[in-house]
Amino acid sequence: MCGIVGYAGKNPALLVLLQGLERLEYRGYDSAGVALIENGTLFIEKKVGKIRELIRSVWGKELKATVGIGHTRWATHGEVCELNAHPHTDNRGEFAVVHNGIIENYRELKEELQRLDVEYRSQTDTEAIAHLIALNYQGDLLEAVLKGIKKLKGAYAFAVISVKEPNKIVAVRYGSPLVVGIGRGENFIASDIPALLPFTRKVIPLDDGEVVDLRPDGVHIYDSEGNLLVKEAIDVPWDAISAEKGGFKHFMLKEIFEQPRTLGDTIRGYISRDYHIPFSLRDFRRVIVVACGTSYHAGLVGKYWIEKYARVPVDVVYASELRYSDAPIGEKDIIIAISQSGETADTRFSALSAKDKGATLLSIVNVIGSALDRESDYSLYTHAGPEIGVAATKTFTAQLAVLYSLAISYSEDKERLTENLLKIPGLVEEVLSIADRIREIALKYAGYKNMLYLGRHLSYPVALEGALKLKEISYIHAEGYPAGEMKHGPIALIDEKTPTFVICPKDKVYEKMLSNIEEVLARKGKVIGVGFQGDSELRELCNDLIDVPSVHEDLTPFLTSVPVQLFAYYIADYLGLDVDQPRNLAKTVTVE
Ligand code: M6R
Repeated sequence: MCGIVGYAGKNPALLVLLQGLERLEYRGYDSAGVALIENGTLFIEKKVGKIRELIRSVWGKELKATVGIGHTRWATHGEVCELNAHPHTDNRGEFAVVHNGIIENYRELKEELQRLDVEYRSQTDTEAIAHLIALNYQGDLLEAVLKGIKKLKGAYAFAVISVKEPNKIVAVRYGSPLVVGIGRGENFIASDIPALLPFTRKVIPLDDGEVVDLRPDGVHIYDSEGNLLVKEAIDVPWDAISAEKGGFKHFMLKEIFEQPRTLGDTIRGYISRDYHIPFSLRDFRRVIVVACGTSYHAGLVGKYWIEKYARVPVDVVYASELRYSDAPIGEKDIIIAISQSGETADTRFSALSAKDKGATLLSIVNVIGSALDRESDYSLYTHAGPEIGVAATKTFTAQLAVLYSLAISYSEDKERLTENLLKIPGLVEEVLSIADRIREIALKYAGYKNMLYLGRHLSYPVALEGALKLKEISYIHAEGYPAGEMKHGPIALIDEKTPTFVICPKDKVYEKMLSNIEEVLARKGKVIGVGFQGDSELRELCNDLIDVPSVHEDLTPFLTSVPVQLFAYYIADYLGLDVDQPRNLAKTVTVE
């Protein structure tokens, strides 16, 4: 979950590292640091807080170093303090390491190192790596790393530099993301592609167990036994500007407003390839969707569509639950793993364990070349561009577009359904045009401590997504429920202090929803509704109504999810919270 960046080239490394770290801040932001080889010694600077604290402390230092590594931390082991911030070094100050992931056997290693008189200074698991490499060093950094990783257990990626071999970085991927960026007379490593975009779009994603020896004039990749590998670079279809705020106050707002374009790109991508996957979902007895967070909610929507059009039963399971379940899974099953990043540990490992049992693995990912993409039998891509805000928005609707396109490819009426789908980007544009009105409504509810989100059928996952958006960026407690479940417990929460957000388009469960709204009102609950334009009945019932254009009931999640995103955004912004980097969270969760 931490961000790693490294540079070996001909320019001052510090500037490249700081730029890279700023673009990786969404990965973790409790402390940051850099290590450079300056005049034959290690220069290390670390600061608690955001990258700007690090920038302030190194500003004006004229460092000439052209090789270095940087890190932005999301703490796993050890409190947030300068001592625990990366990079970590060995006792002689000759090796510096930045690391992402978890070394599960670090306690054991620490005791072993202490028996060898190593002074272990921090509370981190990372420090063990620096000492291990130093102890194994016999004149060859690559060899020392290859020997060192034999002792490590866990899922991780790390990069090391040493004064002993000042012209190179050695880095390893084992479970956490790492990509190599190829330049001219300069090369890069990073945990995520956006860090590389100002410098290069040519990347080599590393696979688990691979080790890279990176120098200004060349990149050599080895397997964990030290055998040289031949790997092709891929061209990333993103540009540096797509990972910038473009005049918006926050990435999240920019990404919400990008949805007409990202939806259009994703839908057109599927139409141009005529929904092609080289097998039919109908060849399987069951589809199992695995995902986490927002991607899981997209999967819940997809279940309704796939069951309706492909007529195959679909289970949607939290990835973290599937991995250790005893569910019978085999070759008659197809797993659809949904992940924006393609690096989420829970999603990857649960999908891979199902694949090991014989299931076919189809992934829906946004990051081409991500681990899940490469590990899958087949991948479908969301063309949403880089998503930097920690709260997923445009990738959610793009995932919906892929799932819907996939589902309707089984319909006899595919042409007409496609025509309707093509209208969605324009209709989302219309929803965005009432953003100011949504803001006005949102601000009325910014002072509440609890909220309920209710929906039925296709609107139920949208209710879950609305509640997730609100809690993760505004820290207001919010619960999403299928509206019909309310009377089985959650209704006890309703009073004048707990507003209810209802997702209520005119679909086959509309009348039922109206009854549920009445039940809330009868208990003095305030109701904010999302419904179709011109719905006077709903308007009458709701304290505040956000109306969206009316569409075929299948397509409602595309339109109703946008107001819940904006509602959460405006409350969090009004409360002065850090919308793009909410507390305790990281964009990509690469630990279990
Ligand atoms: O990269 P992924 O789609 O696998 O990420 C899954 C979740 O971690 C992610 O959706 C998370 O819940 C977001 N913060 C939601 O806004």
